[in-house]
Amino acid sequence: MSKLIVVAGITGVQGGSVARTYLNAPGWKVRGVTRNKSSDSAKSWEFKGVEMVEANLDDVTSLKSAFQGADIIFGVTDFWTIFKDPESITKKKPGQDITEYCFEVELQQGKNLADSAASIPALDRYIFSSMANATHWSKGKYRELYHMDSKALAVDYAKSLPGLKEKFSQIQAPIYFNLLWEWSLPTTPVKNLDGTYRIKGIGSGDLPISFGHVAKDFGPCVQAVANAKPNTNLFAVGDEISWNQYLDTWCESQSVLKGGYDEHSLDWWMETLPGLGREFGENVLFSMEFGYDGKDPSVIRPPQLGLKMTTFKEYCAETDFSRILQR
Ligand SMILES: NC(=O)c1ccc[n+]([C@@H]2O[C@H](COP(=O)([O-])OP(=O)(O)OC[C@H]3O[C@@H](n4cnc5c(N)ncnc54)[C@H](OP(=O)(O)O)[C@@H]3O)[C@@H](O)[C@H]2O)c1
Repeated sequence: MSKLIVVAGITGVQGGSVARTYLNAPGWKVRGVTRNKSSDSAKSWEFKGVEMVEANLDDVTSLKSAFQGADIIFGVTDFWTIFKDPESITKKKPGQDITEYCFEVELQQGKNLADSAASIPALDRYIFSSMANATHWSKGKYRELYHMDSKALAVDYAKSLPGLKEKFSQIQAPIYFNLLWEWSLPTTPVKNLDGTYRIKGIGSGDLPISFGHVAKDFGPCVQAVANAKPNTNLFAVGDEISWNQYLDTWCESQSVLKGGYDEHSLDWWMETLPGLGREFGENVLFSMEFGYDGKDPSVIRPPQLGLKMTTFKEYCAETDFSRILQR
């Protein structure tokens, strides 16, 4: 009889990668969780053979129902859906920063996922997409990396639940390669009048930052975590490259000339991109100083599970950048 994986966030980058992996795995059926079964993305998964169900991370009853019969549950929460929701401004406490409000909601969603997973007695593994606890690993230097700490505290909660902690594992996503250029961030290479390309970033141009081809590699990583012993903590990093290496590799792959890297302050990032600027900027600074995974000794890396990850050079070779080259 087939086994069942239930994928929360199937219409997103991480969940989509997990679903693609398990659709190709013999003996597995995939059930996808969405807030809206009528969306084009949900319908496309149904077309591929996924059983789509509606549930909301804010609603434990709906999650418990979605998880019935699961052998594996993959759970991901999305800080940025909450950040972009126009209702979040009206729901937050007076004077509260919007990112702190998103932290509270995302942490509660992580707890809801864990409580719901704990209600499935025959469950074999609950795998949660987490990040490092920045406040803890920076010894209090970075206390407002809300999109990281919310996920790390949800891990602590899941591990505290009797009956779930021995079925629990986590996976940490690195910064997505495509975030560098598809999110219209200042990190997108820009052509100058002299024909060379420059990027803007934060921190040293020569220190490594953790990236990965999450859309492609995350699913196989989750599968490897599912096959490993419980309490696995995989940092699914693909490549560690500096801003200068990013620009070098990208320019070489596109046969264009490199201009250079322009370092901008955290204040500049915060002014340029309110909310997102601090979370992204501090995320990079934390990564440079403390390691993206906080150098948590419990973390393992893909080669330890026999995984081959996509390098940035390989990603550039297989990606169509014409949209930004034509500007
Ligand atoms: N971008 C990066 O570089 C990076 C790096 C590390 C970690 N992360 C983390 O990755 C997470 C986002 O993952 P992603 O990129 O896979 O997301 P994504 O592509 O933006 O998709 C978001 C997913 O979340 C689902 N979702 C959102 N709110 C929901 C709710 N209330 N109930 C049920 N489902 C809900 C959406 O489903 P429906 O719309 O179908 O309901 C969708 O499938 C974020 O928390 C971020 O902090 C990102």
